[in-house]
Amino acid sequence: MDNLKESIILGIETSCDETSAAVLANGRELRSHIISSQVGTHQKYGGVVPEIASREHCLHIREVIQQAMQEAGVDFADISAIAVTYGPGLVGSLLVGVAAAKAMAYAARVPLIAVNHLEGHIYANFLEHQDLEFPLLALLASGGHTHLILFRGHLDYEVLGRTRDDAAGEAFDKVARTLGLGYPGGPYIQKAAASGNPKAFDFPRAWLEAGSLDFSFSGLKSAVLNTLNTAKMKGEVLNTSDLAASFQLAAVDVLVQKSLRALELYPAKTFALAGGVAANAMLRELLKKEMAMQNVRFVYPSPTLCTDNGAMIAIAGYYRFIAGKHASWKLNAVPGLNL
Ligand code: KG4
Ligand code: ZN
Repeated sequence: MDNLKESIILGIETSCDETSAAVLANGRELRSHIISSQVGTHQKYGGVVPEIASREHCLHIREVIQQAMQEAGVDFADISAIAVTYGPGLVGSLLVGVAAAKAMAYAARVPLIAVNHLEGHIYANFLEHQDLEFPLLALLASGGHTHLILFRGHLDYEVLGRTRDDAAGEAFDKVARTLGLGYPGGPYIQKAAASGNPKAFDFPRAWLEAGSLDFSFSGLKSAVLNTLNTAKMKGEVLNTSDLAASFQLAAVDVLVQKSLRALELYPAKTFALAGGVAANAMLRELLKKEMAMQNVRFVYPSPTLCTDNGAMIAIAGYYRFIAGKHASWKLNAVPGLNL
């Protein structure tokens, strides 16, 4: 075990529109972290164009990995294992990372570690807090997923609830697009909401059946769209900030209340927020207040570690590596992979 702690993991992430690589030493020291974002390229289309995304990954992966290794001052002889996201995500994008990681691991004769992107998001919390205690409840809210997960120990978890339709981040993105704000929508909604009245519109919250820890955001998204369309037909102009603030409050309210319900059913020592939506200031503030009242330690990653990045794949890969969970050379991309 001691020599395993002296590990250098190269983590690679290419599941969507960020090409990223990081070098993590001993499960705690991030020696380098490079993120090459394609957001600017996709912005004009209002969303990620899969074909363009995979081409961009092909163009940048080599230089991103080289830069990560150079900055960390390591070469292949120093690396203990190569961890890569193999799903979920866009198949063409995933394939670029998986092919690169397989080729390098094989040539360097080091283990290949297959990381579930969703696990990666949650493990981002361990980069900044190594001492998190179990049981740990996690709320993962990203552009593609909304999950409540109970971790009994490292890599030992159970999904308690998930979205039945849109993911939380997807709702932020779609509402932002309807309001004529930018892409990705979350940060734009947050900015517009800052000067709006969150009580201006009473948008619906989907609580689902009593006791359910599942989510549903499509009704909320449609309610914003309908409100806008009805106003347009009447020739009325609605205040964008008020719409953004009311939508944000409704989305965050559901995320917070379901988290508290999960905590009631599954008492935990730690509550961890993860995924792109974890960057939302209102969500962080409300959960922080609630968790303090429940005496539960509340953590969330810093903003760069909330959205897609290679460091989270390196740390999730580290825990798989020390558990001896190596992938086979037949590893393939699994776009629909779940937890
Ligand atoms: O985890 P992530 O980078 O990619 C996926 O794996 O999906 O999450 C991206 C999502 C987008 O939907 C984006 O709008 C949302 O995270 N997001 C936010 C904020 N920053 C990013 N949502 C709400 N508030 C934010 N500040
Ligand atoms: Zn993600």
